[in-house]
Amino acid sequence: MKTFGCQMNENDSERIVTLLRRQGMTPALSEDVADVVVFNTCTIRENADNRFFGQVNKLRERRAVDSQMRIVVAGCLAQGEQEAIFDRAPHVDIVVGTHALGSIVELLDRSAGEQHVIDVSNTSEALDPLADLSAEPTDGHKAWVTIQTGCDNNCAFCIVPQVRGGEVSRPFQAVVDEVRNLASQGVSEVTLLGQNVNSYGRDLTRRLRAEQTGPTDRGYLTGQVYVSGSIARIRPLFADLLRAVGAVDGIRRVRFTSPHPKDMREETFRAMAESPAVCESLHFPLQSGSDRILAAMHRGYRGARFFEKLLEAREIVPDLAVTTDIIVGFPGETDDDFEATLELVARCEFDSAFTFIYSPRPGTEAGGWRDRFIAPEVIAERFERLKHVTERSAFAKHRERVGRIEEILIDGPSKRDASVASGRTRQNKLVHLAGVDGERERGSYVQARIVDASAHFLHGEVLRVRA
Ligand code: SAH
Ligand code: SF4
Ligand code: F3S
Repeated sequence: MKTFGCQMNENDSERIVTLLRRQGMTPALSEDVADVVVFNTCTIRENADNRFFGQVNKLRERRAVDSQMRIVVAGCLAQGEQEAIFDRAPHVDIVVGTHALGSIVELLDRSAGEQHVIDVSNTSEALDPLADLSAEPTDGHKAWVTIQTGCDNNCAFCIVPQVRGGEVSRPFQAVVDEVRNLASQGVSEVTLLGQNVNSYGRDLTRRLRAEQTGPTDRGYLTGQVYVSGSIARIRPLFADLLRAVGAVDGIRRVRFTSPHPKDMREETFRAMAESPAVCESLHFPLQSGSDRILAAMHRGYRGARFFEKLLEAREIVPDLAVTTDIIVGFPGETDDDFEATLELVARCEFDSAFTFIYSPRPGTEAGGWRDRFIAPEVIAERFERLKHVTERSAFAKHRERVGRIEEILIDGPSKRDASVASGRTRQNKLVHLAGVDGERERGSYVQARIVDASAHFLHGEVLRVRA
């Protein structure tokens, strides 16, 4: 199983693995010995496509001599490019789109007698698009929980709505039940996933109002809080979902990603502050600091509004860490636009930032603005300047933590040094703990004093194992 994309894509990979395990398959040590190789692709930027084609082409020779092996391509590129995958990589056996994951086993059976098998359909009418598609978490102590599929926005740069479809929220009770089930298996941290998590439930309330659903379905769709309430007064439900998930026995940490700044409401910040399990960590994707560019992107907010909401978040949620995404070189971005981004990013003092070079995506609005594309050398220089500003604030934020005592959830041994354990604080900061057996302490919570900081991680000394 090879995963190329975002957390949702990872969560889908877990679903695929779960489906295949039920067929008696077990994970292989490498693609060189696997009978079935599944690529779960991403197409958010061109380099994601290229990485996939590079890897799948390495299997060409082996596939030519091994008539039993199967190569499956799933995920967002599979949904978007379909035929192109068979054109560029004819040794691929199966293409399965983002909505058809559940048919993967059937497609494998079909491919015994068919050369190129494809299913990119989207036919499910189920109340819960992920019913029957459970995902066993890769880690025993933490899990992804997809609460919503697709996206209803139309950011000019973004291919996600094309390859993931429109927004569909999973029923409130289905999410809570999934979290309960995970907690009963020992999971203590969940991350709620969606492309726009704080519009979670908008479609559910629409459905309720339109269909006059009976009380049983109301409770399932929108949570018990609304069973007795007036349908007319139902509002979006993300804040309630945060509280409900945070209240599940055994859940100590709740995270979520990504909210959209334009839909971020005070009630969500309140739920974060008032629900002890919800972590003091917010991913708040800015994209650009120029109002002109934000408008061209159709982001639905201006820089000043973003900043106001950020201040509100920090006021309501004490000790909040904020991360962001920024795109450099969006078509038409002038020096002044970029300066506005630098300035706003500096003022926001993010804990960390994911910075991306704009990548034109086929079929997106901005992908057609060829006459406004920015020269690569201009982008490269802007990218470096932006990185300097984001790293400065990341380092400053990390330094502030030195001397503090933090709760750390241990993820396992550090990748570089087995005598060091790695874990995360509630603010989602990576901490290395020397002299801790990461293998043994995986999944346990410890108290540690932060003793040193760099831009990307912290060092801590454990005070007490098993907090
Ligand atoms: N729904 C999420 C975004 C998912 S994509 C959200 O709105 O926050 C993750 C990030 O990839 C985006 O925030 C954006 O910064 C970046 N991205 C998306 N399309 C891109 C493109 N064509 N080129 C460069 N970066 C892109
Ligand atoms: Fe893409 Fe915008 Fe939807 Fe995020 S909100 S997935 S950036 S269209
Ligand atoms: Fe995620 Fe990439 Fe698809 S970012 S939604 S896997 S295009």
